[in-house]
Amino acid sequence: MQLTGNTIFITGGTSGIGRGFAEAFHRLGNQVIVAGRRRALLDEVTAANPGMRSIELDIADPAAITAVAATLVSEFPRLNVLFNNAGIMPFDDASGVIDDAVAQAILTTNLLGPIRMTSALIEHLKAQPRATIINNTSVLAFLPLASTAVYSASKAALHAYTLSQRFMLRNTRVTVQEIAPPWVDTDLIKKSGDPRAMPLDAFIAETMAGLGTEAEEVVVEAVRSVRDNPGAKEHAMVNAFNAALVANPIPV
Ligand SMILES: NC(=O)c1ccc[n+]([C@@H]2O[C@H](COP(=O)([O-])OP(=O)(O)OC[C@H]3O[C@@H](n4cnc5c(N)ncnc54)[C@H](OP(=O)(O)O)[C@@H]3O)[C@@H](O)[C@H]2O)c1
Repeated sequence: MQLTGNTIFITGGTSGIGRGFAEAFHRLGNQVIVAGRRRALLDEVTAANPGMRSIELDIADPAAITAVAATLVSEFPRLNVLFNNAGIMPFDDASGVIDDAVAQAILTTNLLGPIRMTSALIEHLKAQPRATIINNTSVLAFLPLASTAVYSASKAALHAYTLSQRFMLRNTRVTVQEIAPPWVDTDLIKKSGDPRAMPLDAFIAETMAGLGTEAEEVVVEAVRSVRDNPGAKEHAMVNAFNAALVANPIPV
């Protein structure tokens, strides 16, 4: 995508990766609108970045998505980038009883959220001279973390959806990019400074450079081999990954 001259709507812009991208695009002179549920944080982000705008949104609420899309189209008619970033990552235990409410919340937020948000804006995006949809999946779409089985599955599903969406949009002016982050030190789990987690600033810088190309998928170099996992050896690689994390757990 072109990194300047855009009007960009970012879901989950109140913290972590979403806020990081919002500020990076804002510094490049783009009009950025951030969304999230926490009003106080939306106000904090816009106060720290004069000119940035915000809108309250619970991505799990289909009626709110419809209303926010209508507001965006009327207040920001040049909106041409949708960045589907909002997500949640509760832990679970796929060897036992799965809490149905939690599983539904994960799928509604991480999978249906981007599908519904895109659906609500797609005709507007198609009418722009150039437009981009960015879907934030995870490297766990390719290498599931067993202790977040539903989360990992939601991201694998969003990856698959993204492939279909890009193909179906191939004859339009809308391009689709996917970012598949590694473990980045945010509050998605618990910001801990763990050396295995990539610092947020480094992740944003490397990924912005990747987005600035026409790359369909942007993965930081540190986890390139993980992304390239699928194949006949997938099961052994997934088992070794999860055994290593059982031995040296993620702080939660
Ligand atoms: N950090 C990582 O290691 C990592 C790795 C791979 C992929 N990712 C993905 O990156 C994205 C951002 O995560 P993060 O690491 O930046 O975590 P984060 O700091 O916890 O940010 C999550 C964002 O999602 C928003 N959100 C959650 N539920 C929402 C809802 N129902 N409606 C609207 N907004 C909602 C939150 O805003 P409110 O709470 O204000 O609503 C917040 O802004 C997620 O999709 C995550 O899966 C992260």
